[in-house]
Amino acid sequence: MVAAEPCSQLEIEPANWRDLNALKHLERVCFPQDAWPLWDLMGVLTFPNVVRLKAVCDGEMIGFIASDLRRSEGLAWIATIGVLPDHREQGVGSALLHACEELIPVGRVRLSVRASNQTAIRLYFRRDYQRVGVWPGYYTDGEDAFILEKNL
Ligand SMILES: CC(C)(COP(=O)(O)OP(=O)(O)OC[C@H]1O[C@@H](n2cnc3c(N)ncnc32)[C@H](O)[C@@H]1OP(=O)(O)O)[C@@H](O)C(=O)NCCC(=O)NCCS
Repeated sequence: MVAAEPCSQLEIEPANWRDLNALKHLERVCFPQDAWPLWDLMGVLTFPNVVRLKAVCDGEMIGFIASDLRRSEGLAWIATIGVLPDHREQGVGSALLHACEELIPVGRVRLSVRASNQTAIRLYFRRDYQRVGVWPGYYTDGEDAFILEKNL
């Protein structure tokens, strides 16, 4: 795979329902095993108490992150983060994570990640996430989820 040229100007912008088709494509490419159904994609783009951001390069959505705010628990969950393959390893995922964390108005953020997803786990550990739990057999194919948490 030949990586795309790094974006001369990467923009991190709020996402909305107009991004549904681009998000559908990104989900299928980034999560071949776990892609969300259409209803969940519509929800993440429209429900209240969700921070939703897209990374845009030359007018194209190349990355997306969403976090779900649970004020009563003093906690937000990163529900999804993905970057199109030929734009990876250029800092886009880190930029999305940083921008999302900045907008979370509570003190803790959590996420679940496949135990085998070393690329994502490295990214989170570098950004001060720590492992706080395991959900055995959480994914549909039986793989465990690691639960990671960061104090903001
Ligand atoms: C996980 C994911 C979002 C990371 O996105 P990304 O844009 O590649 O992330 P970054 O570029 O910020 O960081 C990834 C690596 O690239 C490196 N990198 C960043 N900028 C770089 C640059 N300019 N040149 C070279 N390497 C660079 C980082 O150091 C990092 O490597 P490390 O983790 O070994 O330290 C992406 O791999 C993805 O979409 N995966 C599929 C979906 C997925 O698994 N999501 C997570 C579910 S929990």
